[in-house]
Amino acid sequence: MSQESVADEVRRRRTFAIISHPDAGKTTLTEKVLLFAGAIQIAGSVKARKASRHAASDWMEIEKQRGISVASSVMQIEYQDCVINLLDTPGHQDFSEDTYRVLTAVDAALMVIDGANGVEPQTLRLLEVCRARQTPIITFINKFDREVKQPLDLIAEVESHLKMDAVPLTWPVGMGKAFGGVFDIRHDRMRLFRAGRNKFDESDQAFIEGLDNPEIGNRFNESWVQALDEIELIREASPTLDRQAFLDGRQTPVLFGSAINNFGVQEVLDTLVEMAPSPGPRKALERTVEPDEPKFTGVVFKVQANMDPAHRDRVAFVRVSSGRFTRGMKLRVSRTGKDIRPNNVVSFLSQRRELVEDAVAGDIIGIPNHGILHLGDVLTEGETLHFTGLPFFAPELFQAVEVKDPLRTKQLRVGLTQLGEEGAIQVFRPEAAGGAMLLGAVGVLQFEVVAHRLKTEYGVEARMMPSRYSLARWVSAEDSKELRKFLDANMANIAYDVVDAPAFLASSVAQLRVAQERYPQIQFHTMREHG
Ligand code: G4P
Repeated sequence: MSQESVADEVRRRRTFAIISHPDAGKTTLTEKVLLFAGAIQIAGSVKARKASRHAASDWMEIEKQRGISVASSVMQIEYQDCVINLLDTPGHQDFSEDTYRVLTAVDAALMVIDGANGVEPQTLRLLEVCRARQTPIITFINKFDREVKQPLDLIAEVESHLKMDAVPLTWPVGMGKAFGGVFDIRHDRMRLFRAGRNKFDESDQAFIEGLDNPEIGNRFNESWVQALDEIELIREASPTLDRQAFLDGRQTPVLFGSAINNFGVQEVLDTLVEMAPSPGPRKALERTVEPDEPKFTGVVFKVQANMDPAHRDRVAFVRVSSGRFTRGMKLRVSRTGKDIRPNNVVSFLSQRRELVEDAVAGDIIGIPNHGILHLGDVLTEGETLHFTGLPFFAPELFQAVEVKDPLRTKQLRVGLTQLGEEGAIQVFRPEAAGGAMLLGAVGVLQFEVVAHRLKTEYGVEARMMPSRYSLARWVSAEDSKELRKFLDANMANIAYDVVDAPAFLASSVAQLRVAQERYPQIQFHTMREHG
């Protein structure tokens, strides 16, 4: 592939993830998006995956599903002239740090909101990550076939939570039983709602053209009177859509619909193709990497244990940052200087046969390995590069861990170090002598997973115990002497993570605040960047 064609291919890429609170409709929307693009087989497995999650009452069951979850965690489809990479964000019972890290590998996010519930807690946590990285967000407000909140209230909620302007591209006419459809503000026409439609051909769509077309009023009476008022209000009060403001994270386009009825899905895809950016440059410590430069570079953003725990095989998910990946090419791991030659690259679900044979910036490749690749690792054709920005997030849940059989202490340490490197959990070693190792997580299932994997992969029966801590902040200071003073004076609350970065652990927000007030020269961080 010539350099021009790499550049052309990159321009066609749209890499995004859907974020939502459980039950807002992420699985349904994903499935409809796939069906819409003609990826019928892929759609089937997405549904199957969700069903298996529902059925999975414990980690053992989830374990059995690992194969399918690797395959369906990246989906590649073609729509119009674009190649869309849709990355799954595990967001249900298995909510974990992976959920956050996936967002570092996308160029845009689609936020799905349940119109009856508005913006919910889990979405807020994911939004924070998007905001920190200035990831542009498209908003889809779902379930208008039900009684939901008033659209103007939903818009206000989105604006206050996202701290950005919401620009409605469509506007709902009625809701629940009286849901008539959505008015497409930009194209000046109303798309009529039809329930339960699963076909995707043009003949299945019905429109009424024109905001002042009396036919709309005749058919939808009060719903239209209200919608018309609101549209006028929105036109006066909302800024016009500005792509740069969207790319900078200052505006979010908003669409309304009903995913289960496949209503509003086309507008979502069209908006994604039109508005979401193709892969851009990525900053490394050494230089800026352009997506269309000839040489390959990529970053490991997620490591997932694969099917066979006895062999500790893992799949490293690599987002391509530049150049072109071909099967069997030699790649250098910047951290170790070692070369690898990945041959049997993992296939994700794709409509395109050439996936993995031929990946460019924005695409994801899965490289099976036995621990040689860590989170945050950079792969190149020989150059040494360090990308910034793979975040570790301050855990919100803590447990102390001890080994039942003291003779297995070393195995516990080895196991925890490896699981920590993989990012399955965060491991903290307390500064105070004699303290048990601490595990920090953002999702409660992470503890179960770690206990289970310690047993099956390292032969360690671990005992998890409640911890008095409830939050952690990594600490730093301009002046290293000040930092030392702080660490010495607060020894009982200091612990070190896998890369020996010091963190302050507190049992309450009040305790953290006291420390912050007492030590103004210390910075307390909720996020630590890899590297
Ligand atoms: P999630 O992945 O975000 O957790 O949500 P999911 O798509 O599984 O949807 C959660 C529930 O909401 C599902 O119902 C789904 O059918 C329903 N749903 C999704 N979109 C719409 C919509 O536009 N309108 C209405 N009324 N419901 C919608 P469930 O009963 O939990 O599952 P199922 O038996 O329908 O599969």
